[in-house]
Amino acid sequence: MTDAKTLSNRRPETGAFFQRDRAMHPPAYTPSYKTSVLRSPQKALLSLDNTLSEITGPVFGHNILGELDNDMIHNFAKPGESAIGERIIVYGRLLDERGKGVPGALIEFWQANAGGRYRHKKEGYIAALDPNFGGCGRVVTDEDGNYWIRTIKPGAYPWPNGPNDWRPAHIHFSIFGHGFAQRLISQLYFEGDPMIWKCPIVRTIPDRAAVERLVAALDMEATIPMDSRAYKFDIVLRGRRSSMFENRMEGN
Ligand SMILES: [Fe+2]
Repeated sequence: MTDAKTLSNRRPETGAFFQRDRAMHPPAYTPSYKTSVLRSPQKALLSLDNTLSEITGPVFGHNILGELDNDMIHNFAKPGESAIGERIIVYGRLLDERGKGVPGALIEFWQANAGGRYRHKKEGYIAALDPNFGGCGRVVTDEDGNYWIRTIKPGAYPWPNGPNDWRPAHIHFSIFGHGFAQRLISQLYFEGDPMIWKCPIVRTIPDRAAVERLVAALDMEATIPMDSRAYKFDIVLRGRRSSMFENRMEGN
């Protein structure tokens, strides 16, 4: 495993500059996604210089993680019990624009339970809480950029947008880079889910191929027989095949 010393000494890579393809990003103001009306900027954006605390650290290592941090089936469960739901593995690689694995990156995940309910005090959905499911996990990529988590497949849930809008099953995730100002956030969806294409948030993304890059593929080869099915999901940080991230693009 890449240790903290190696990471902190790693020189920034030089090479061709890959500009972000902004055409695939949704406009900030998309009234069909009701929340965007209030959240979108009303005034011209100001650019502020980063402070030292934003451009230095963090350096993550496996030593910050608990043994069950990447196992959402068990990390909140009582001893001997486990979360209710379809048991799945989500795995893949964190890649740069040239397809090279990115080591030592902290990826955090959060999701609703199998019934589509979050463990959050402001959650209002009637689906039941699962006493053995917290809904948060995290993992640090290995030296080749691989990550691996186990969880239960989240349920779809309704949300107050239009009269009958539902979020497709999804897992939120964030990736920390080499400074606290470098954090990318997005959501992964599941292959074959018809709700993806009905979702007002997904539909703010103008490029269908960009949506498809957020869909994890069922991978029966990585399944654990009699235990869990597997979904493969590579995350691409930059370049032509970049994953679509919700928050502001690098350099903005
Ligand atoms: Fe969500």
